[in-house]
Amino acid sequence: MKLYQDFFKLIDETPLIDVATELQQKVDYAFNQRNNGNLQRWREAYANLPDVQTKHIRLDTSHVSIGKQTDMTLQQQEQILQQLKILKPWRKGPYKLFDIDIDTEWRSDWKWDRLTPHIAPLKNKLVLDVGCGSGYHSWRMAGEGAKLVMGIDPSLLFVMQYQAVKKYAPNVPVFVFPFSLEEMPKNIPCFDSVFSMGVLYHRRSPIDHLLSLQNLLKPNGELVLETLIIEGGENQVLVPRDRYAKMRNVWFIPSVPELIKWVQRCGFKNVRCVDMNQTSIKEQRSTPWMNFESLADFLNPDNPDFTTENYPAPRRAIIIANK
Ligand SMILES: C[S@@+](CC[C@H](N)C(=O)[O-])C[C@H]1O[C@@H](n2cnc3c(N)ncnc32)[C@H](O)[C@@H]1O
Repeated sequence: MKLYQDFFKLIDETPLIDVATELQQKVDYAFNQRNNGNLQRWREAYANLPDVQTKHIRLDTSHVSIGKQTDMTLQQQEQILQQLKILKPWRKGPYKLFDIDIDTEWRSDWKWDRLTPHIAPLKNKLVLDVGCGSGYHSWRMAGEGAKLVMGIDPSLLFVMQYQAVKKYAPNVPVFVFPFSLEEMPKNIPCFDSVFSMGVLYHRRSPIDHLLSLQNLLKPNGELVLETLIIEGGENQVLVPRDRYAKMRNVWFIPSVPELIKWVQRCGFKNVRCVDMNQTSIKEQRSTPWMNFESLADFLNPDNPDFTTENYPAPRRAIIIANK
């Protein structure tokens, strides 16, 4: 796949070159073996995107904005619109592609704005974005001047959404791979910054997740960890009995002091919480690009400070630490 060949050219002078074959095999495996029946449809949508080039790329604004309507005919714009709709639901964004506003379920730019004042500069850095979804934040990392951003996400739909965007920004060094953190090659401690946002609470073994992130960081490299939290002190953790906010796969939601302790016990230093925020129904909501239920439907209608299961409503913290 040409897209990943460009990645392999760029990693020539990084330790990633040692695992290039393994990465390529994992890409092939994911696209061949993990096909859930929709992949063909998504691939056709990708193949039907018109070939257009653009110089209009903005990665430092709320919308990841690529192309202008004036780069193409109205007919081509309509063709893009139809293909992008086949790639629904669009969860993380927003994007503007040739002036088509992809109003995603999440205002992911709000999270980005909360964390950027606190992170180490990304200019010329090698960055890993674990659980990157469609890659919205990965594009924003490139917008901050990162030398290379590697995103990983096991969802083939999100990877196809990324590929649709990447088609029109082929020279921006952002590459989203179709696999999980557990599938990343081991013993390549080469990343200057590793982001794990919105993933930890999905893991049955959060400590192993933290150790795997650490394993990929350079000495002194920076971990940016964003996850669900509860209010409370050390030793307080919510383990939902079944679903949390209608999600089946939520395992551990610690208090901030407990989460800091986990990160410290994994050997990270300089661990600090830089932001806490209760997710609002303006930040996560249904839109024409994501027609399913969203946060408002997951909250108790009589008291939106609680979920439908009567757990505390989603609150998130951003933790920063160094290896
Ligand atoms: C809640 S979304 C967060 C997306 C984005 N990082 C953000 O903060 O907006 C969680 C993402 O993590 C991915 N994910 C789940 N388990 C993962 C794993 N073990 N390794 C990497 N990604 C994973 C999911 O496919 C999903 O796209």
